[in-house]
Amino acid sequence: MSRVPEASVFLVVDEAKRKAREKGLRLIDLSIGSSDLPPPLEPLQALREALSDPSTYGYCLKSCTLPFLQEATRWYQDRYGVRLDPGREALALIGSQEGLAHLLLALTEPQDLLLLPEVAYPSYFGAAQVASLRTFLIPLREDGLADLSRVPEEVWKEAKVLLLNYPNNPTGALADWGYFEEALALAEKHRLWLVHDNPYVDQVYEGQAPSPLALPGGRERVVELFSLSKSYHLAGFRLGFALGNEEAIARLERVKGVIDFNQYAGILRMGIAALKTPREVTQGFAQVYRQRALTMAEALKGALDLLPPKATMYLWGKLPPGVDDLEFALSLVERGVAVAPGRGFGPGGKGHVRLALVQPVEKLLEAARILKEALD
Ligand SMILES: Cc1ncc(COP(=O)(O)O)c(C=O)c1O
Repeated sequence: MSRVPEASVFLVVDEAKRKAREKGLRLIDLSIGSSDLPPPLEPLQALREALSDPSTYGYCLKSCTLPFLQEATRWYQDRYGVRLDPGREALALIGSQEGLAHLLLALTEPQDLLLLPEVAYPSYFGAAQVASLRTFLIPLREDGLADLSRVPEEVWKEAKVLLLNYPNNPTGALADWGYFEEALALAEKHRLWLVHDNPYVDQVYEGQAPSPLALPGGRERVVELFSLSKSYHLAGFRLGFALGNEEAIARLERVKGVIDFNQYAGILRMGIAALKTPREVTQGFAQVYRQRALTMAEALKGALDLLPPKATMYLWGKLPPGVDDLEFALSLVERGVAVAPGRGFGPGGKGHVRLALVQPVEKLLEAARILKEALD
């Protein structure tokens, strides 16, 4: 099998959006998870100041990333009470998407077996292909979580990596500490890596998102990926970090060393300022998404079968039987609303759509009305 992934269905929707705009249609775009909320001011100010400092202009090797990693590990300790070594248990990433793709290359050999949910962030499937991995797709439970009890014993024995992501894109599902305890116990029993992609850590509507790295034994098996894209609305600046097992981090560092020279030092300074953002601010952002999610869930009652919203900036809905998700998404663009077709999130996503709640409530309600009309 080729290591080069196929073009994604999202490009088909993107082309439909382009054509609709060309015809003068004003689209309500709920197809991409890029926040409409403004970032906090302090990180942008830090970046502006860095631009006037010529010492930030050169290549940025590990030592240059250390202040950012110190801040990232401080941030983690503050949240989860676990103190990590910034030099050995942390690594700067150019976004968690970049980190994940390189981490799979770093932790596996071609043809190794990767376990991931049958509905997942699209780049996981492409990253598995780039790393020449075989995959086992874990069916979802009713609550949207990967059903670990449905992974056969012989599959556990063969697997090298279990990849999870809660709070989840696209389903919005949220795992509790018990779920991660079970996942970690299985990873320990079968000696595999537990990779947890956690860019939505701050988009939980109530309480705090669990982190498997903080569990007893987590540092032996877990690598967790965090991002500044979602917590602080800084997606375009491409910054994230990996925390976790020392050996895994060292391997990731060696793979990345061949490929990139880290982010611009000014963006790392931006990241330091962002990570200092008070919790009330990020919690405030989460409440905006919660309000939007509850309003939309109510507005779409009876039209889509939705998981109850608990986290993230997404709603994941099952279309009525017989409605093709891609055809529906394309026809909806012609009516002025863009959503993501479920099949783009893996084979388990067929017949679903994902709505990114990245518009103010009035726009969302208008989109809900159009979506219901289209289904009628
Ligand atoms: C689950 C998941 N992982 C990773 C990413 C990408 O994050 P980053 O911008 O840090 O690369 C996204 C973006 O939508 C995501 O939903």
